[in-house]
Order: sequence, then structure tokens, then C-alpha cells
Amino acid sequence: MSYRVAFIRGDGIGPELVESALAVLDAAVDFPVELIEVQGGAGAYLEQGTAMSAAGLEVIRQADATLKGPVGLPDVRLPDGTEAGLLGGVLRNGLDLYANVRPITLLPGVRSALRVEGGIDYVIVRENTEGLYASRGKGVGNSQAVADTLLVTRAGCERIVRYAFELAAKRQGAPEDGVRRVTCVDKANVLRSMYFFRSVFLEVAAEYPDIEAECIYVDAAAQALVMSPLHFDVIVTESMFGDILSDLGGGTVGGVALCPGGNIGTSQAYFEPIHGSAPSIAGQDKANPLSQILATAMMVDYLGEQPTGDRIRGAVRQALRSGSVQLNSDGTATSGTKSVTTAVIGALA
Ligand code: IPM
Ligand code: MN
Repeated sequence: MSYRVAFIRGDGIGPELVESALAVLDAAVDFPVELIEVQGGAGAYLEQGTAMSAAGLEVIRQADATLKGPVGLPDVRLPDGTEAGLLGGVLRNGLDLYANVRPITLLPGVRSALRVEGGIDYVIVRENTEGLYASRGKGVGNSQAVADTLLVTRAGCERIVRYAFELAAKRQGAPEDGVRRVTCVDKANVLRSMYFFRSVFLEVAAEYPDIEAECIYVDAAAQALVMSPLHFDVIVTESMFGDILSDLGGGTVGGVALCPGGNIGTSQAYFEPIHGSAPSIAGQDKANPLSQILATAMMVDYLGEQPTGDRIRGAVRQALRSGSVQLNSDGTATSGTKSVTTAVIGALA
């Protein structure tokens, strides 16, 4: 098979991360990949007046998959105060990429901030088209009060919960107690929208009798992800909760610099680090490219080439295990972006 892959370099550390990931991709694949660059992010906004042009979006729509670097710059803002370079609205909602899939895995050689040696291995399935962030660009108010709306629809909830159970059914490995499970994280004790989310979760869960279904409030979930992370397998949750908890999860596995994510719909998808564009370290060969490299592995899986995805993940593990890649406690790369790239490519062999 041959694949058409679009890529967005993005802002801040994005270009160096994407360059690294594309070098790893090139070294790993034994099938043809046609790469097509699309401008996107704050830089694109400054240059062309839009963070993503209609033509760029069309390229992404037509591609088999897209690799995206982090986007956004704190100083590039829209009149309402939000960042101008973000692509969540245009890509996630525009292409209806409803599943934001964020594996939280403690890799070998990486020290967790928690007192665990290993075994953290769960996936956060973050609803990506509704929830509170569906209000982006639609907040209403005046100088005295502003409101954003949290939306949960039955259809949106059913499909994300089903995605989570299907993922659990095919996942390798198991939580500490060997029980396959999907955990619904909500706030059903306080918000009607969240009670609805939980109700639909339980309805869909009944279709999967072999998988344990449990529900936990988001505040308790924040504690449990720190105190008993080995309990978790697949977590399904609303968009803002998933945004926050995925960074929390990243903090337990060496930092978000090691954490990739996929934004997946019924026929399009893009893959990215879950972190931001870190402009303060941009262009200094300091950024850790592993999140972008692991996002590339997820993209390769999505293309249907899982053995190659496994090879890339295996090379990352090998490079960390052997000490050829070492990380600082803030998640940056001790030896630099280029050196990490060389080490991962070396470990592919
Ligand atoms: C993420 C980011 C984005 C989000 C921001 C930058 C819009 O935090 O992908 O987690 O909120 O989803
Ligand atoms: Mn985030």
C-alpha cells in the first residue's frame, strides 16, 4: 500500500519535532508515503490571516492521515482573547474527529513522579466535538458576565462511549488486577449534562457484558490517577475533563513531552503531541521529540500498518532502556532533539 500523509509543522518547537518525526517515519517504513505540507497555526494566521485555509483543510480531508506539530503562540490572539493559532475548532469539529485518544504509558527508563516502577498503561478517550469546548468561539456575555455552554448529545455520547468499549475489547495488556474495564469520568452528582453522559454510558456499557463498566466523579478521578494509576484501562470522558486529566496523566509518566494523541473520526484522523508549542525553548535543540515520534507511531497504526507502529514504539523503548536517550526532570531532552532522533533511528535497525 501507499499512503498520502499531510503534515503541519506548527509553531514554537513544532517544526523541529515534526522534522524529527518525519525522519523516524522515513527510516521505519517499508511502504511508500507521499508527504504533503499544510500550513497551520499561529504562524499561518500571521501570514495568511487564517490558522488554516480552506485549501489546507481540503488537503487534510483527502489525506489518509495527518501528522500535526503543536500550534499556537501566547501572543497571537483573536479579539475575544482566545488564541488565534489553535486548530481544534477547524480540525476536530470541522472534520468531526470525535475521538481524542491519549495513551498514558510509563516507558522503560523513565522515572515516574509517583512511587511506581512501571505498569502505568491506560488510555484516555476524550470526547472531542462537544462538551464544554464545543462553546469555543460561542461564549456569550458582556463586561459583567460571560457564559460558555457544555453540550452533551445522545448521539455524541453514544459514539464516544462505543469507541471506548471497542478500544478496550481489542487492547493488549491489562490493568493490575487483570480486569478489562472502561471507566466513565463525569460530574453526574452536580451537572445535568454529566448525569446524562453517565446514563448514556451505562446504556452502551450493557452491550459489552465482558468489560467492566465503572463510573467515577472527575475530582475523585484526579486523585485515583495519582494514587492508583495501575487500576485504569480505558477512560472515557467529556472534553475539558479529558484535557485536564491527560496532562495529569502525562505528569505521572515523565511528562507530556512523552505523550501522543490521536484525533480520530470515521474517515479522517490527525496525530499530535498532547502538549503545546513551548516557544521559550523553540529552535534551541532542547525539545523532546518523543511525543511527536510516538504520535507518528499511532498514525502508522491508524493507516493499518501496526507492525511498523510497533517497530517505532519498540525503538523508542530501546533508546530509553539503553540510556541512549536521557531526559531531564522537566521532560526536555538532555542530549537535544537531534540526538534523540538519531538514537531512535539507530534503535530501529
Ligand atoms: C490539547 C490542547 C488544546 C485543547 C488547546 C490548545 C486548544 O490543550 O490538545 O490538549 O484544549 O484541546
Ligand atoms: Mn491540553
